[in-house]
Amino acid sequence: MVTLPGPPVRLWRSGDEESLVRHADNYAVWRSLRDRFPRPYTLDDARRWIEAQLQAPERLMNFAIERHGEAVGGVGFIPGSDVESRTAEIGYWVGQSLWGRGLATAAVQAVLPYAFERLELLRVFAAVFELNPASARVLEKAGFVREGVLRDAAIKEGRVTSMIVYGMTLSDWDAVRRSGAGVV
Ligand SMILES: CC(C)(COP(=O)(O)OP(=O)(O)OC[C@H]1O[C@@H](n2cnc3c(N)ncnc32)[C@H](O)[C@@H]1OP(=O)(O)O)[C@@H](O)C(=O)NCCC(=O)NCCS
Repeated sequence: MVTLPGPPVRLWRSGDEESLVRHADNYAVWRSLRDRFPRPYTLDDARRWIEAQLQAPERLMNFAIERHGEAVGGVGFIPGSDVESRTAEIGYWVGQSLWGRGLATAAVQAVLPYAFERLELLRVFAAVFELNPASARVLEKAGFVREGVLRDAAIKEGRVTSMIVYGMTLSDWDAVRRSGAGVV
């Protein structure tokens, strides 16, 4: 049984605040995320985020993405409720200076065993803005299946945008794991 995700993913810890601001306070990161991701991303935002993670309940949902000991991004789950209690949405970001090195893909692959084995999820999904091919590619590389388009589902920066839904079920995960594709 997996207890926590492995590298490049680790727990958030105090001391991450400055690198978090350095990587998160960036329009190119914010523009592909929900508006609740702060902009500007201040030191106070980073302190609040890390404080909240340190007080997180037993079922940890948010993790730092680490490179050379520094928190350079984040990956986490938003758990569903009611009839979707064993579904979660996955979200992630990486500091722009480190894009294109496989970090997000490795981070998503690192949290999947935790999601399916420790959290005992039946389904993990992501909703990607239609103009975010890099994120779609991350999900495809990790073995997610493109399931459909939520037409005109979101408004970002005043512009209506569709969202592409990618999903992975527990049986998809079993197949990915058996094929070795989910192993970093
Ligand atoms: C999306 C994001 C997480 C990717 O992080 P990353 O560490 O660069 O991702 P990886 O290096 O693992 O993989 C990126 C893939 O996208 C590809 N890619 C990048 N830009 C692309 C583009 N414009 N069109 C098509 N593919 C693109 C890369 O070539 C790579 O694929 P490859 O390995 O087959 O060459 C990062 O760009 C980011 O943080 N963006 C802002 C936040 C965000 O979009 N979060 C996801 C919300 S759903």
